[in-house]
Amino acid sequence: MARIVILTGAGVSAESGIRTFRASDGLWEEHRIEDVATPEGFARDPALVHRFYNQRRAAAAAALPNAAHLALARLEAAGAHQLLVVTQNVDDLHERAGTQNLIHMHGTLAGALCAACGHRWPAPAEMAPQDSCPRCLHPATRPDIVWFGEMPYRMEEIWAALRAADLFVSIGTSGNVYPAAGFVADARHGGVATLELNLEPSQGTRFFDEARHGPATQVVPAWVDEMLCT
Ligand code: NAD
Ligand code: APR
Repeated sequence: MARIVILTGAGVSAESGIRTFRASDGLWEEHRIEDVATPEGFARDPALVHRFYNQRRAAAAAALPNAAHLALARLEAAGAHQLLVVTQNVDDLHERAGTQNLIHMHGTLAGALCAACGHRWPAPAEMAPQDSCPRCLHPATRPDIVWFGEMPYRMEEIWAALRAADLFVSIGTSGNVYPAAGFVADARHGGVATLELNLEPSQGTRFFDEARHGPATQVVPAWVDEMLCT
């Protein structure tokens, strides 16, 4: 039984109709990243940031898991290998495909967070600045999303899993944003085999033992079929 850590990025959801970040020249729905994905942007204009994530929440709800998400869930369910999926994505397509062992290192659109007391609860479809925290009633609610400049979630668990892995697979990520972009170097440092499955070479493709390029809905199911035949 191999221990496999799988990192996914926006590319694994691209064929579900959720645009990747860099496909839109560094803009999301015509917004600059500094205005909608940083704590400073939220402090400046919380209504704009809530509107932006309300749009992404609606887009994610309308999307369906694709063959790549389903193949990863199939690999986990087969039980022949011990899988951990670490996703940078904030959509819920891995869960809806059936993946169980999953970490959302950038948080999720499904979560709301109180910046005053730290309480978390399921986000409504539409969030707004006047929403107050159900526990402390403070109007400091925000999407439970990790923004630029903030620390991702559960990093100690992720780094421990990387050190203990037999194989690290990176799927649909450009290797632009740290610390996720550094996982391949962490894996190699620990003598872990590394594989990139991406539409095109990522920023870090030279660090991978093997790289297969093509749409995730093709290269991921093909790789899972191989893993299940061995
Ligand atoms: P970083 O490498 O993510 O970004 C450095 C700075 O460059 C950012 O502050 C931003 O101003 C800019 N930048 C980064 N990527 C960009 C991009 N794709 N397009 C345009 N500008 C970009 O370092 P950081 O600022 O320290 O952010 C680190 C943390 O933010 C990471 O831990 C990451 O997990 C988190 N993050 C979350 C999301 C999300 O969508 N939830 C997105 C990006 C980063
Ligand atoms: N199949 C496989 N890979 C794809 C596909 C596809 N159909 N479509 C695009 N890709 C690849 C692109 O080639 C690119 O390398 O997915 C990657 C998407 O890269 P980004 O848009 O940078 O998304 P990601 O790597 O997840 O971004 C990392 O930065 O901007 C933030 O919120 C974003 O948390 C994310 C982080």
